[in-house]
Amino acid sequence: MSPAREPIGVIGTGYVGLVTAAGFAELGSEVWCVDIDAEKIERLSRGEVPIFEPGLEDLLARNAERLHFSTEPKDALEQAQLLFIAVGTPPTHSGDADLTAVNDVVDELPGSDRHALIMKSTVPCGTGATIQRIFRDRGKGGMAYVSCPEFLKEGSALKDFMDPDRVVVGDNGDWAGDAVVELYSPLKAPLVRTDVASAEMIKLAANAFLATKISFINEIANVCEETGADVIEVARGVGLDDRIGPKFLQAGIGFGGSCFSKDVSALKLLAANSGYHFQLLNAVTEVNELQKRRVVSKLQRHLGGLAGKRIGLLGLAFKPETDDMRGASSLVLAARLLAEGAVVSAYDPIAEDEARKLMPQLAYRDSAFGAVQDADAIVLVTEWEELRALDWSEVSGRMRGDLLVDGRNTLDPETVRAAGLHYEGIGRR
Ligand SMILES: NC(=O)c1ccc[n+]([C@@H]2O[C@H](COP(=O)([O-])OP(=O)(O)OC[C@H]3O[C@@H](n4cnc5c(N)ncnc54)[C@H](O)[C@@H]3O)[C@@H](O)[C@H]2O)c1
Repeated sequence: MSPAREPIGVIGTGYVGLVTAAGFAELGSEVWCVDIDAEKIERLSRGEVPIFEPGLEDLLARNAERLHFSTEPKDALEQAQLLFIAVGTPPTHSGDADLTAVNDVVDELPGSDRHALIMKSTVPCGTGATIQRIFRDRGKGGMAYVSCPEFLKEGSALKDFMDPDRVVVGDNGDWAGDAVVELYSPLKAPLVRTDVASAEMIKLAANAFLATKISFINEIANVCEETGADVIEVARGVGLDDRIGPKFLQAGIGFGGSCFSKDVSALKLLAANSGYHFQLLNAVTEVNELQKRRVVSKLQRHLGGLAGKRIGLLGLAFKPETDDMRGASSLVLAARLLAEGAVVSAYDPIAEDEARKLMPQLAYRDSAFGAVQDADAIVLVTEWEELRALDWSEVSGRMRGDLLVDGRNTLDPETVRAAGLHYEGIGRR
């Protein structure tokens, strides 16, 4: 463990809050974690980790003496000046960011000249200004405010914390911004110190751009299917241009997760509410929704009607190495298959419990081989390493039909074909 450093509070112990807490504890801070979910706090106090994130359990255990869990914000307020807010900001029915949890925290904070609220949650540009105005109106103007958006990726969140591409600190040039910069200084990451509104916009713009890149390559893949080109070759050739880069050019069955869709929608509506029509983002969202459904057309093209057909889904989480099912492409795909009358079996190495809550109608199997048994077709939905490395001859032998849709373009078509399966990728020849 590193030597003692500035203690911090973390309010909200989900994916972002727990990683932030574990990361700063590892760097030497005492961390006072607060959550309104009493059961979660009880489990964390017992050393149980309520989410799956590689390495998190070990890091929390290694720093257990520095980590404190409570449902009471006053415990964090007593012990720490810097209060990181990492509560959820899900979309409302209108698509705006729901700031209820953020506002609840703001309402609960007392007046103080020695504390700072550090916003890790993703919030619309202008939220920091509003919160600071609320503090002033309520006679709590002494509370400092810093926007410190989070860029971690579930599945590699600890690495992203320890070795971030950049740290963004948006503040008013006061002690709190300096303290946050100091807290992150051991990471030696590029620092973007800026104003609060720009920091808020950096986060939304980054996610909107990544989502745009995915929808772009997915549309290229769809055109490849019509024209005989192979999107893998195209992405390779395009990505070598260093103005573009190779990352996020993997065509597939659409992006999921809790962040991209909601942040694209929040940015679109933020723009609209400010009088600007952000046209490009409408297309990004629409392309993604259509992409999730294209697999159904592929299956229909091969199998005809899907009523009574047995379809096996391999992987359900929105991406590998997480149990997070929020926004997962599997949700849309499974719902469409069931609506067409298909019988759907599924396997995910980690996310089954979460998936069951959202899709109780699926037949869950405890192995990939179980999910493909007697299937007319199978779809690789999430590219878990375990699934990429399957024995495809065994898979082929267990199926009734022979169609494999590789929804992530992650398998070698020749290997799969050699096993006796009919390979269908996304935008591949
Ligand atoms: N998950 C990601 O990959 C990721 C990455 C970057 C940024 N973000 C952003 O970070 C924020 C948190 O995301 P998450 O995925 O960690 O959410 P999450 O849903 O996993 O966790 C949120 C936690 O906040 C708690 N909470 C809600 N209201 C509270 C209150 N009033 N007081 C204390 N705790 C409260 C909830 O019980 C929950 O444990 C969101 O704004 C999200 O957009 C998420």
